[in-house]
Amino acid sequence: MGKLWIGTNWKMNKTLQEGLDYVKELLAFLDALQPQFHTFVIPPHTSLWPIREATRGTRLFLGAQNMHWAEAGAFTGEISPTMLQEMGIDLVELGHSERRQYYNENDYDLNKKIRAAIRHGIRPLLCVGESLTERQFGVETEVVASQLKISLHGVSSHEAAQLLIAYEPVWAIGEAGKPAEPAQIARMHAHIRDLLCSLFGDSGRRIPILYGGSVNQENFLTYLRIKEVNGLFIGRAAWDLASFRQMLQEIHRYALAEM
Ligand code: PGA
Repeated sequence: MGKLWIGTNWKMNKTLQEGLDYVKELLAFLDALQPQFHTFVIPPHTSLWPIREATRGTRLFLGAQNMHWAEAGAFTGEISPTMLQEMGIDLVELGHSERRQYYNENDYDLNKKIRAAIRHGIRPLLCVGESLTERQFGVETEVVASQLKISLHGVSSHEAAQLLIAYEPVWAIGEAGKPAEPAQIARMHAHIRDLLCSLFGDSGRRIPILYGGSVNQENFLTYLRIKEVNGLFIGRAAWDLASFRQMLQEIHRYALAEM
């Protein structure tokens, strides 16, 4: 497995000025650190262009929080892959549980979005994960397998090299979330890896699988040490730059020791 991926989705937080201040400080820090991992931020759409300008040519990857699959059309409120491509956006987060829950995003539409992102040279960061009820009924592996099989349908082994997957159990996300046990994460990541290999052969071995859901100062290194965890997708704990910086510093030391 190559470099770790460490990043944060700001969700509907940070004004343009707040975002620019955050990114400027983060860049100065990353420059001094020369980290042995990939770092990304995913701001709201309205901040993407100024932040792209501020981060061009740097080591920070920039992502969008959602995208339509069509290149253009009568889809009020949506953003197209062509628009993101024009701005030079590196990746697009697709299928976050909040989008599935509040905006009825489903795996069939996600399949169209993922294929459109790949066609436009934007890495899809696909989020999958079961709800608490699904886990209580013991169908979490089936649920995640179904999410992956539908949303990755028709993606070739060659195209699969562009994918990033994040396992984010819905019950672990956000203020009301309960941090997952390392054993639960290990089991699901191994399951996802098997599935990716069955879909894409050898290319499936190289797709980074990130973990997300209440990653915080207390658990991030424990999570990172789990086999098949190839990165962390952090929400609240990374919105405060001081907290994110501290985690990045320790992850840098960890990555150096692992090399
Ligand atoms: P959280 O968010 O770290 O605040 O739980 C994670 C996510 O929604 O990806």
